[in-house]
Amino acid sequence: MTLPAGIEEVTIGGETRLATEGPPVYGEPTVDGWRVWGAGRSKLAAMIEVGLPVQFDAATMALYLGAGAGTTVSHLADALDRVYAVEFAPRPGRRLLTVAKEREAIIPLLKDARRPETYSHVVESDCGLLVQDLATVDQARIAAAHRPFLADGATVAVSIKARSEDVTAEVSSVFETALEVLDETYDVVEHARLEPYHDDHLGIVARVD
Ligand SMILES: C[S@@+](CC[C@H](N)C(=O)[O-])C[C@H]1O[C@@H](n2cnc3c(N)ncnc32)[C@H](O)[C@@H]1O
Repeated sequence: MTLPAGIEEVTIGGETRLATEGPPVYGEPTVDGWRVWGAGRSKLAAMIEVGLPVQFDAATMALYLGAGAGTTVSHLADALDRVYAVEFAPRPGRRLLTVAKEREAIIPLLKDARRPETYSHVVESDCGLLVQDLATVDQARIAAAHRPFLADGATVAVSIKARSEDVTAEVSSVFETALEVLDETYDVVEHARLEPYHDDHLGIVARVD
């Protein structure tokens, strides 16, 4: 597996796990300064584990939608110089602010990802990585609406949680619709389901052409 910049594999308890280098944040195990990045706790780590081509280099600026309490964002911030982290819920948002205090690379934005115009004056327009983990309706459409923030050739890593779109719909039809919507704006490169790490989630990697 080709790993993105700043992500390594470590062996812990006889198992090979993804890891990033930095101080621990949420009680995760560490090995020689490397923090285990569990695929069960992170859609982005699961995308890498299932072999999706999530690629970025150390100079990449990332825009992350649905930062939550900053678990995955903290790992990305170990690898990259800048991660714009968008989260609208007050509780995880407070935790995100605490995580951001300890990691200069994180720029927390307590904003609604459905309204990108409210942070367009802060976020650079040439981000090389967009991550979307919103678990809400219109996940693909929201990811597509962030095209103006991305540089040519940027990587788009989208997680679609089927139940957040429509609890009554067939999971496969939710995923098909999301792929069609993303393909109108980006070049979809590869997609894969995220089991066994996350049930009824589709990971999609696309590129800006
Ligand atoms: C699955 S959780 C994120 C987990 C996080 N990405 C991680 O790996 O650590 C989804 C998050 O998206 C946030 N969210 C949902 N809709 C949003 C919106 N419109 N704008 C900003 N955040 C949103 C939720 O509040 C929640 O914290």
